[in-house]
Amino acid sequence: MITSLAYFGATSPSYKDWEAFGPEVLGAQLVEPGPDGAVRLRFDEVAYRMAIHPGEKNAVAYVGWATTGERDVQDLVERIEAYGLAVNRATPEEAAVRKVIGYYWFVDLAGIRHELAWGQMRSRTAFLPGRPISGFRTGDQGLGHVVFAVPDLEKSDQFYRDVMGFHLSDTVIDGPIHAHFYHVNGRHHSLAVARAPGDKAAFLHLMLELNSLEDVGTGLDLCEEKKVPITRTLGCHTNDKMTSFYLHSPSAFRIEYGWGGLEVDDLWIPRYYDRTSTWGHRHQHNEISPFLEIEADSQAPATAS
Ligand SMILES: [Fe+2]
Repeated sequence: MITSLAYFGATSPSYKDWEAFGPEVLGAQLVEPGPDGAVRLRFDEVAYRMAIHPGEKNAVAYVGWATTGERDVQDLVERIEAYGLAVNRATPEEAAVRKVIGYYWFVDLAGIRHELAWGQMRSRTAFLPGRPISGFRTGDQGLGHVVFAVPDLEKSDQFYRDVMGFHLSDTVIDGPIHAHFYHVNGRHHSLAVARAPGDKAAFLHLMLELNSLEDVGTGLDLCEEKKVPITRTLGCHTNDKMTSFYLHSPSAFRIEYGWGGLEVDDLWIPRYYDRTSTWGHRHQHNEISPFLEIEADSQAPATAS
């Protein structure tokens, strides 16, 4: 059973820029680099939750999901295999790089590499934010949420719900936008998928939630000072009530930086909305590369270690 978004990995020619951007803008803690030189960032008591690997393209390398353990994950692996996708088990060496006890990985129909991990390592030292913030809302809710655009929304929706076991929180249909939001814990959504305009999947954003609105406000000030492009202005979402803004990361993908996300429980009944935001969240003209490419070749990101 999947319990949260555990970690996130991308490749990028500008991976080194994250050494400053991660701590100074996001407030993450820079930790020891990976064996390939990947810049690794810590957000809480977990050893690290984000790795930006050196690579020729800005691309999502993998999305790491926490599971309840090696024994429990077998059912999930069987369902994915029965669906027709090949599931691979990471070697102990590969697992050590992710700082987990073990993981399975597979590439879904949209081309996204998912890792099903257990035993994510905790750090022995306290989290030390890179700038003075109250911290990230993680814990049982995991790193945050990821949002993808997928070419076949119906098929992906069926896969994420029936095979991977995500629970639908709500659906937003707003003009050309058609998106489903899914939860696996108290966080309103850990994964969302929108209909892609073309036949290619794309990565839309990674959301990081802060413990205070002040952290979001000072982050917004910092982006203006450091000329980090804001891709969506401060606003509040209709469905998860997140007060947030979106910024352009050094690797072209967007980060939603927010506070105040709604919590859901087991009795949650899916809702429907015709708007994504109640106020704000205006798209900015400076929006660059709104879509991050997902490597079609599953072997390429697999080598990111
Ligand atoms: Fe979001």
